[in-house]
Amino acid sequence: MPPTQTVSSSPSLAVTLGRLQLTNPILVASGTFGYGREMAGFVDLRRLGGIVPKTITPLPRQGNVPWRTIETAAGLLNSIGLDNDGIDAFLRKQLPFLRDCGAPVIVSIAGASQPEFVQLADRLEGVPGIAALELNISCPNVSHGVDLGTDPEMCRSVVAGVRGVTRLPVVAKLTPNVTDIVAIARGAEDGGADAVTLINTCQGMAIDWRRRRPLLGNVIGGLSGPAIKPIALRCVHQVRQRLRIPIIGVGGIMTIDDCMEFFVAGASAVQVGTASFADPVACTRMLDALPAALAELHAASMADVIGTLAVPSRPSCPPPETTTHGR
Ligand SMILES: Cc1cc2nc3c(=O)[nH]c(=O)nc-3n(C[C@H](O)[C@H](O)[C@H](O)COP(=O)(O)O)c2cc1C
Repeated sequence: MPPTQTVSSSPSLAVTLGRLQLTNPILVASGTFGYGREMAGFVDLRRLGGIVPKTITPLPRQGNVPWRTIETAAGLLNSIGLDNDGIDAFLRKQLPFLRDCGAPVIVSIAGASQPEFVQLADRLEGVPGIAALELNISCPNVSHGVDLGTDPEMCRSVVAGVRGVTRLPVVAKLTPNVTDIVAIARGAEDGGADAVTLINTCQGMAIDWRRRRPLLGNVIGGLSGPAIKPIALRCVHQVRQRLRIPIIGVGGIMTIDDCMEFFVAGASAVQVGTASFADPVACTRMLDALPAALAELHAASMADVIGTLAVPSRPSCPPPETTTHGR
């Protein structure tokens, strides 16, 4: 008789992304969860796989002029413009709370150039309470912010520069606003990144046609929420197919089914973003539902699910002579 497969009643939720080890794969995304403190009244932060606080820059930034957020049919447009108090204020005012909150803290940094990224990483080296760095080379709302993430060599150079000054795991957060996401992810891999986060927001805009005006003060912003999930899944799939670098999936994740789609596509972990605005406990709701979802796939661990998508080896459409299309 063949041995029966036994699945533990509580599957292991732990995941490893390069040198970054997490007790579970559900994190919260940068810019959508404040600095943790704002959400602590709603969410038991100790349960999170990780917190990525709002991106910090070398100096304080006021961000863009209003309006900075617009709700769309299936998502949210924002042009916040990396409004933040700068690294000094972060270290003084935000990190002490985050360090004690019980979740791994992945600090998101953004510089306007490669040397600025390196300086930020250097400044954070050896600072207690930081689990990893996420390099935001993908913010569509900052002048030049996107450029570093749209060129494979620039991406490699930023990651390699940061890698050279830090012992922390390094995660590169990429923009979907490129022709070939695999080429950019390869740049991150070649630069020594432990993982890539896919994706930041997709460029978009909203218009008041009666006034013939754009609705966002910055004219163009970044689209997030359910509208972008298929794009994010496609990016995760493409990178998973071609590269070995671990992936953190983000984009439109609202439910446990969304999380599972990302895991099957190849993400080792996910980040919950816009969903937290509508439901602050969305992240822990999904975490609560994760063991049952793994059990549905008879999975004893996350490794039994990650990247297990069965892709047909050939296109399934009929050959041209048998198609009835157009007749
Ligand atoms: C209001 C807002 C602010 C954001 N700020 C940042 C940020 O500071 N740094 C960053 O890397 N991503 C930022 N993002 C992008 C999110 O982290 C995430 O990548 C994106 O929204 C897609 O995920 P979602 O559809 O689940 O929101 C922001 C998104 C929103 C909606």
